[in-house]
Amino acid sequence: MAPEGARDHQADAASNPGEPGTGSARASRSAGSRPSDSPPAEPPRIETLLVLGASGDLASRLLLPALGQLLTVEPDRRILLVGAGAEQYDEEQWRTRVSDAFRSSQASGDAVDELLSHTRYRSADLTSDDGVRSVLDECEGAVAIYFALPPAITFRACQALERIGVPDGSVLGLEKPFGSDAASAHELNELVQRIVPERSIHRVDHFLGRTTVLNLLGLRFANRVFEPLWNSTHIERVDIVYDEELALENRARYYDHAGALVDMLQSHLLQVLAIFAMEPPATLGEADLRDAKSTTLRATQVWGGDAAGSSRRARYTAGRIGDRTLPAYTDEAGVDPSNETETLAELTVEVGTWRWAGVPFTLRSGKAIGRKRREIMVTFREAPRVPSGLEGEAPANVLHIALAPERIALELNMNGPGDPETLSREVMQADFDPGRLKAYGEVLRGILDGDPSLSIRADTAEQCWRIVEPVLEAWRAGTVPLEEYAAGSNGPDAWRTSIR
Ligand code: BG6
Repeated sequence: MAPEGARDHQADAASNPGEPGTGSARASRSAGSRPSDSPPAEPPRIETLLVLGASGDLASRLLLPALGQLLTVEPDRRILLVGAGAEQYDEEQWRTRVSDAFRSSQASGDAVDELLSHTRYRSADLTSDDGVRSVLDECEGAVAIYFALPPAITFRACQALERIGVPDGSVLGLEKPFGSDAASAHELNELVQRIVPERSIHRVDHFLGRTTVLNLLGLRFANRVFEPLWNSTHIERVDIVYDEELALENRARYYDHAGALVDMLQSHLLQVLAIFAMEPPATLGEADLRDAKSTTLRATQVWGGDAAGSSRRARYTAGRIGDRTLPAYTDEAGVDPSNETETLAELTVEVGTWRWAGVPFTLRSGKAIGRKRREIMVTFREAPRVPSGLEGEAPANVLHIALAPERIALELNMNGPGDPETLSREVMQADFDPGRLKAYGEVLRGILDGDPSLSIRADTAEQCWRIVEPVLEAWRAGTVPLEEYAAGSNGPDAWRTSIR
């Protein structure tokens, strides 16, 4: 085991903040001192992005392509990229990996070329002080340390960072799942808050960077027509659905221990709910926005306090999606059937506030589902009375806010074409450009700019576990049957009526 001790980065007068890779500027907070959480007048500029776990799938599939896209959109941005991981790469192999990832997002331009000419990689044991110290030595100035690592390794790498200390102005980017329950999330919160102040901790949820999720803010708070109706007087139910055609995709090592509830509902869909249901914040500054979300999640619990009665779970069996034949989940490589991992989860919660009392919010997400569906569906109450003489049905209005592809559609009852006395259903629809940056790019920009608005605050991370914990317990106790559905279907037959 490496000797423990404080790491003192010395400021290097030779460094040039405009040109990453040309010097080292390492003013540091010594290990052991408590980071202050009062916002600095001007946060130090992040000079290095250090990706821990850079040889892994997350880095090459999401993070590096997002970085490439960000640099393409913002060609004046300069950042030194340092990769670290268990694999051995020489300079050339690493540069090829990065440029392959950049190519996948069509990244190009000056900032991209500059980054490729300076990027470095170090193979290290990221759970040891020596290993972590060696990768920090490759960095310049204030560092954004991104943990693209499994949770257990992240925890140990953070323990090493606590002992070593990080350069002043550094920020941490942590992937989900953040802990495995409320208690472990709390423990991890305490640990990371001993390394840097809370506002420098970015608990990443890429759904918060999705265009439609951001559009919710404009839709709700910049229009007169929605916000007055955004409550239990006018809304009957809300469904937040993220059904994917994707199956396990070789992710058993992670997914077989997480399952759909933790992978999607506990994290992404509760964040979407928070933005959908929160009170209007005065500003979109991190404090106002994150306070509003946090208040909403604190008021959220399983419907009627009945975890078993408000949740369902199922697992896919063999089937077909398009021209793909899928094996049963339990026959996928690396899956342990005794884990009883669900690949489809549904949970109804209530938001116990004046605004939302009595409105069920149903969150659902599944893998290997035939009908790809990623939307918030808002079902309004029916019109109190339709004048007699107007023929036909007048079902409730439904607003579809599609998370992908980006679209808003409102189902309306209108007088039928050519027959003013008969009602028919019409849809008013708008499609949106997905935005210049993909969700990960948006989140990454927040991290590199030291703006935590789009990241999850410590208390919120714990709240999200608190909400789903009774469900996890009920499922572990076997009080909710694990149902089955064929891959390529839309879930178990018996679930059909629950969400249109
Ligand atoms: C990830 C989950 O966080 O989000 C995946 O781990 C899921 O299981 C993915 O497929 C969905 O998000 P996106 O943006 O890839 O559709």
